[in-house]
Amino acid sequence: MNRHLLSINDISREEIESVLATARKDFLGLPQRNIKKVPTLRGRTIIDLFYENSTRTSTSFELAGKRLSADVINVKSGSSAAGKGESLKDTVLTLSAYRPDIIVVRHPHVGAPAFISRFTEAHVINAGDGKGEHPTQCLLDIFSLMQVYRSLKGLKVAIVGDIFHSRVARSNLLGFQKMGMKVTLIAPPALLPRGVEALGAEVSHSLDDLAGADVIYLLRLQTERHQDANFMPSLREYIDRYCVGRRHVRRGQRVLHPGPINRGVEIESELVDSDGNMILQQVEAGLAVRMAVLYRIIVDNAVPAAPAELKEGGRKIKAARRTLNRELQKTS
Ligand code: NCD
Repeated sequence: MNRHLLSINDISREEIESVLATARKDFLGLPQRNIKKVPTLRGRTIIDLFYENSTRTSTSFELAGKRLSADVINVKSGSSAAGKGESLKDTVLTLSAYRPDIIVVRHPHVGAPAFISRFTEAHVINAGDGKGEHPTQCLLDIFSLMQVYRSLKGLKVAIVGDIFHSRVARSNLLGFQKMGMKVTLIAPPALLPRGVEALGAEVSHSLDDLAGADVIYLLRLQTERHQDANFMPSLREYIDRYCVGRRHVRRGQRVLHPGPINRGVEIESELVDSDGNMILQQVEAGLAVRMAVLYRIIVDNAVPAAPAELKEGGRKIKAARRTLNRELQKTS
């Protein structure tokens, strides 16, 4: 892995497969054991810095760090000095004085994690930046699908909902394509970014196009990001046209959702409670995948024991040995 995980584009397909193999082999089975902790990151410090609400992402990052035996500090915007007017830069400089190994950050502004990475020695992991990206969500979704399908190549996925405001849509569009999947985005025109076809996706405005998909990926309406304009004629109309229920899902199709779900808006309650969806498997995957990301971002970037100096040192020792031998020969 690179020094930071800011975008799903920071990680190649081969690296994704390797990190997810770590998640599967080393961490997925841990919650079933009596002792759920491993000493892997003992002595390391992780700061989870959350400026936006979160349930799944914050709890799984916290638990992931704790299960790896790291010291985990959680800073939530409501209780931090941000509420006293401190700038993001100053907060990061302050927290970095404790020399954390990793800072996990969620922030309402696109690019905040990249900004933070300029002021800290720590590895920075983007846990969601506004409508920017959410790379670990994408990794856990790929992981969940890999648990079901042998290969994701050629698999067709329809991402449905508020694509425009969704960082999950952005990361998953890029990440799913990286894994060889074919992506169709289904949303009303106002909830699709203009020109998104250029990123390689098909675009549709109708749930009829769910029929051709292997995987249906549902997204919540991000109403907290709708303040700047009116994106829908009415909620009722949106529900009529885009709420996915059991009748839309045929046998064999898998339904995913990153949560939080809004029953009766983007997904019918009956579909949430049916066996056909993978929502809780995704949550479970989130813990193992985030453990793997925390672990691999540290080990993959561990500074090798200064090989040049070692070589230099080795050369000096050999030279000293030769001189000593010569001296010994002279005296014998
Ligand atoms: C998503 C997020 O925060 O971007 N949730 C999550 O991380 N599980 C999706 C959302 O809020 O709709």
